[in-house]
Amino acid sequence: MKKFVGKHVVIAALSCMAGLAANAYAADVVGNAKAGQGKVAMCIGCHGIPDYRTAYPEVYRVPILGGQNAAYLINALQAYRKGDRHFATMHAIASSLSDQDIADIAAYYAAQTPTSKNNPDK
Ligand code: HEC
Repeated sequence: MKKFVGKHVVIAALSCMAGLAANAYAADVVGNAKAGQGKVAMCIGCHGIPDYRTAYPEVYRVPILGGQNAAYLINALQAYRKGDRHFATMHAIASSLSDQDIADIAAYYAAQTPTSKNNPDK
């Protein structure tokens, strides 16, 4: 029982810290490309298809992310999350990402080159 309560206190403290971190997003969130590799499974369906087009709900071009600058990716994802940049699907997806997820994903995509292997986690 004691252990059970302790765990909840830790979780509450952590979510509190996460809230603070979200307000003061800054240099202390460091992206990890390796961690990012496991977080892009849901991105690959749209951002990883040949010629970068998706067919639903209508045919549109999907921008390529591999090799893109990490700061650019972070800004884009935060703008979708905040609603500064409008695209319904990307808003929904970005809203599910934490600052750490965004930093990891940005690091992952920034490290890609044309010769990078396909992501084994897709
Ligand atoms: C349902 C399809 C779909 C999925 C899934 C998806 N995206 Fe996107 N994404 C798009 C489209 C379409 C755009 C272009 C939207 C626009 O014009 O603003 C886009 C734009 C972006 C951009 C801006 C790129 C630029 O060049 O400005 C980033 C960054 C991005 N997505 C990251 C992600 C990440 C990371 C994931 C997974 C966590 C993801 N997307 C999942 C369809 C998708």
